[in-house]
Amino acid sequence: MNIVLINGTEVKGCTYHIKNTFLDELREGNKIIEFYLPKDCPHFCCGCKTCFFIDENKCPHAEFTIPIWKAIIDADIIVFAYPVYVLRAPGQIKSLLDHFGVHWLVHRPKEEMFSKRAIILTQSIGAPNGPAQNDVATSLSWLGVSDIKRLGFGLMEDVIWEKLSEKRKKMIKMKTIKFAKKYGNKLNVHKSIKHYILFAICKMLHQKTLKNENNVSADNKYWLKKQWIKKN
Ligand SMILES: Cc1cc2nc3c(=O)[nH]c(=O)nc-3n(C[C@H](O)[C@H](O)[C@H](O)COP(=O)(O)O)c2cc1C
Repeated sequence: MNIVLINGTEVKGCTYHIKNTFLDELREGNKIIEFYLPKDCPHFCCGCKTCFFIDENKCPHAEFTIPIWKAIIDADIIVFAYPVYVLRAPGQIKSLLDHFGVHWLVHRPKEEMFSKRAIILTQSIGAPNGPAQNDVATSLSWLGVSDIKRLGFGLMEDVIWEKLSEKRKKMIKMKTIKFAKKYGNKLNVHKSIKHYILFAICKMLHQKTLKNENNVSADNKYWLKKQWIKKN
């Protein structure tokens, strides 16, 4: 299997230890590509809309975003690993995902996304992880991923891995290994009912807008090329 892991921090701390525990279970026989943020995508989306109107390859940050997007497309499993920052996902994670808005179901979705599994690994000192995980889950879902699972921890004792008690580190590692073991084999993932419905609604919208367009938009050109909509 191909696994892509997006690290939401360059710090070799708690997130790093947890995601390595996860990956160690899957290293044998699988190809793993990792990216570290913000280093591997250091720019915010500047709002130029070139991706929406013309082509995502012409994005001013394409040299950073395209390699990550290609690795995501090639992956069977997509993993996001990050710490909770002020109750949400770190800005660098959101910033990367902003660049991929062009591939949301409402724009130019990639059908490959329907058969992928995604994992969100997070930890915080004590705050609930859910809202920070939702930030990524929302994007992944709109990118077409049906199978999204989450694992989150409250460190409770400290924010420095080495300062956590052996008991807590052991508990975190055991839970992470148990979780990772579910991903040992390739699975046939099917599009969920929710995604069938969302795709059908988007198809209807694109077919409708096509009728009223003088200059066919980049999105509709894509839907036409895919033969998901037809010229009347
Ligand atoms: C800027 C920043 C904001 C944080 N905000 C929260 C927070 O709102 N709630 C919380 O429980 N932990 C918070 N933390 C702690 C992190 O979630 C995490 O536990 C800590 O950074 C250790 O992980 P790391 O070694 O991977 O960086 C924050 C940390 C940083 C650096």
